Amino acid sequence: MALRSKLAKHRLKGNKIGLVPTMGALHNGHLALVNASKNQCEITVVSIFVNPAQFNNAEDLEKYPNTIEKDTALLKAAGCNFLFLPSVKEIYPNTHDLSISFGALENNLEGRFRPGHFQGVGLVVSKLFNICQPDYAFFGQKDLQQFFVINKLIDQLSFPIDLKMVETSREENGLAMSSRNLRLSERDKSEASLINQSLSIAKKQLLEGVGIKTVIENAKELFATNDRFTLEYFEIVETDNFSSLTQVTNPKKTAICVAAYIGKVRLIDNLFLNY
Ligand code: PAJ
Repeated sequence: MALRSKLAKHRLKGNKIGLVPTMGALHNGHLALVNASKNQCEITVVSIFVNPAQFNNAEDLEKYPNTIEKDTALLKAAGCNFLFLPSVKEIYPNTHDLSISFGALENNLEGRFRPGHFQGVGLVVSKLFNICQPDYAFFGQKDLQQFFVINKLIDQLSFPIDLKMVETSREENGLAMSSRNLRLSERDKSEASLINQSLSIAKKQLLEGVGIKTVIENAKELFATNDRFTLEYFEIVETDNFSSLTQVTNPKKTAICVAAYIGKVRLIDNLFLNY
């Protein structure tokens, strides 16, 4: 593979290599990962690959935005050194039936609502790690459960990679940046600030000592005030397995996670309880 041998030359020179895996339709959230990599590493590789194996909804895959010309220009301007843009055939030359299980972590929250999703993420990220052999890999807090899936992957498959989390980049109204936001109307975008508001309110209430059950009921009531939203889940979880908590025992390992549809577009967001 051409990229692997090009990167090997840089590695021999002692340059550190940072990998930023993406599915394209890049926004400032992705660019924050690129910047984090540029700050840490001499060489930054960004991959753009819309991975069929992680989509459990055919329409979501079909409608996934493709803005490759704009993406390429953004990456050039950001100082990315290599763009890896493989075809589906290149990543999946043969039918594949290997499946990586993440135990309880994959059955809760995102895993519960998107069966097979994390297995698909685990497979493609393992392939990207093997192709690029990076020293560092950068993932966003926006997809918090994915971050912990990758953490487990690195730990349990002994990838010699330092995993870094980059905090969520947001629009001015608090909406977490996402490639799927391209499918939102201006009105949707403005109303979708409710998602981040629900998290901030819950965080404040939890820190004031309000019980988890009440906090979740309050959040559900808030979403019920706007009939354009369909709330999928609003949960307070521990970040080892993403199982739901009924009371906070370790604030450092506690996160508030939400998934909601506005129209047909599914959005997720989260906040840590302790910072
Ligand atoms: P994608 O959704 O394109 O996201 C690529 C990376 O950007 C992920 O690490 C994600 O957490 C991060 N990211 C997205 N929005 C962000 C935001 N607003 N602020 C900070 N970081 C943000 O996640 C995937 O692609 C795929 O599952 C992938 C890991 C590439 C495997 O196919």
